[in-house]
Amino acid sequence: MNFRKDISPDPAAAAEACGRTILELLSNSLAERPEATLAISGGSTPKLLFAWLAEQPFDWSRVHLFWVDERAVPPGDPQSNFTLADTHWLTPGAFPKDNIHRIHAEKPVGEAASIYADDIRGFFQLEDGQIPVFDIIQQGMGADVHTASLFPGEPAVLDTTGVAAAVYVDKLKAARITLLPAVLAAARHTLMLVCGEDKQQALATVFDGPESIQNFPAQLTRHHRGEVIWFLDEAAARPLA
Ligand code: 6PG
Repeated sequence: MNFRKDISPDPAAAAEACGRTILELLSNSLAERPEATLAISGGSTPKLLFAWLAEQPFDWSRVHLFWVDERAVPPGDPQSNFTLADTHWLTPGAFPKDNIHRIHAEKPVGEAASIYADDIRGFFQLEDGQIPVFDIIQQGMGADVHTASLFPGEPAVLDTTGVAAAVYVDKLKAARITLLPAVLAAARHTLMLVCGEDKQQALATVFDGPESIQNFPAQLTRHHRGEVIWFLDEAAARPLA
């Protein structure tokens, strides 16, 4: 398990540390390959990351952007992970529209997942059964130790072959589209951005707890093949009282 913690005083500093690492890793990838790939998450934590990225004079023209997951809502919906990134980064940061691989979550959720998986397979030029290798996947984690839209008890947590799927999150009474574990595990670099006191127990479960992937999906990161960096603020990283 190749992981390290990068602890910052507060969420803004953690977001900036994560952002600086994204730019550094993208530059490294673009020095070796014509294009680089980044998948981002949603929720609330990444808002600060997106606002920081929007202000950076980075040449995004060879970066292709994907999502880790999306709520089953249309763009413009307050729940939309696309709208979160678009509002705080993509539009203000003039991210090239042709490089945005949005999950079409306005469609029926199974169709949206299938379209997204086909978009990924086409971009990465995958043969049947092949798994895409993203340069960077930025994930978050819930206090219930979910990551992406892989929630405790979700059968897809144990999927080892798929690219993306529609899932129904019973506790939220909501459908989602999510990348599946094999894709998350294959990333060259996984950047976990986790802030807030409410994440302390979840972090202890991931770093030190007995393994129970179906109950604690973010423990999947223990088996990621690439580097895993946890960008934490002190509130989240503080040892349990
Ligand atoms: C989502 C995210 C999800 C998120 C965690 C943490 O669609 O909600 O992709 O996996 O990373 O729920 O969310 P917060 O950053 O809001 O705590």
